[in-house]
Amino acid sequence: MPALASELFIDQAHEKYSAENHEAWRKLFERLTPRWHKYANDRFLSGIEELHLNPARVPRLADVNRRLKPLTGFQAKAVSGYVPAFLFFDCLRNREFPTTVTIRRSDRLDYLPEPDIFHDVAGHVPMHTDPHFAQTLVKLGECAHTAAAHGEEELASVVKGLARFFWFTIEFGLMRASNGNGLRVYGSGLLSSYGEIEHAIESPEVQRFPIQLEWVINQSFEIDHYQPLLFYVESFEHLFDLVEQLERWMKEGKLDNLAPGEPEIKESDLRSFLEGVH
Ligand SMILES: [Fe+2]
Repeated sequence: MPALASELFIDQAHEKYSAENHEAWRKLFERLTPRWHKYANDRFLSGIEELHLNPARVPRLADVNRRLKPLTGFQAKAVSGYVPAFLFFDCLRNREFPTTVTIRRSDRLDYLPEPDIFHDVAGHVPMHTDPHFAQTLVKLGECAHTAAAHGEEELASVVKGLARFFWFTIEFGLMRASNGNGLRVYGSGLLSSYGEIEHAIESPEVQRFPIQLEWVINQSFEIDHYQPLLFYVESFEHLFDLVEQLERWMKEGKLDNLAPGEPEIKESDLRSFLEGVH
C-alpha cells in the first residue's frame, strides 16, 4: 500500500485497453449524455465540452490534462486502486485527482462496486474545470491536515465527519438550478450512474433537503443501493463556505463526538492520517 503520494501514481498504459473496454466507455457515455442534459448542473455540462472527452474511446489522461490544467491547475493522475484517505485528500490539496484507470465490464454497465475510469473521468473530472469547485476540493484537502492534527482518540470521529461530508456533497450532492427552477446534480456518484441520476431528481422515494452541516456530518449512509436521502446547496459559493465551516468546526472540536454508524473508518485510513503529516 502506498504511504506517500510519490509512490501512488502509475502509468495509465492506455494501449492496453481492449476493444471491449472502449465499447464499455462508448455505451456508458451514449446512455448518460441525454440524462446529463436533463439533470446535470450547467458547470458539469460545460466541463464535458471543455475537456473534449471522446464519446467513443477511453480517454488518455494526458489528453484530458492538457485541457484541464490550464483551467484550474487540476490534473487527473492514474492510480491502481484504493488510496488511503489522507493521501487522497492531500492529493486534492495539490490539485491532483487520484484516478482509477480500470473500467467496468461492458455487459455489466450498472454494476459498480468500486470507482472506475468512467466514474472518475466522466463523473468527477468535468467538475474540476470550474474554479470555484476546484478551490472547494483544495479546501477539503486542507481539512485533512486539520483532521490529522487531532489525537488518535478523536481522529476516527473527525475522519468519519469528513467522509460523510464528501459523500453527501462531492459524490451525491444536488444544487439548486441556476434558473432557480428545481434541482440539478453535481455529485459524481450520481453523474456516473445511468439509473441513479434520474432517480435522484425524479423519484418520490428520495428525500431532498437543504444542506445542514450538523446533520450531514452525523448522518450515516450505505453505499450498496440508491441513496434515499440527498442534500442540496444553493451554489458553488455556498458549497465552498460549508467546507470552510467544516474546517472551523474541526478546529473547535465539534467533530470529535459524531453519531456512530456508517461509514466504518478503516484502520489503514486512520493510520494514513496519523502518518500523513509527518
Ligand atoms: Fe467518486
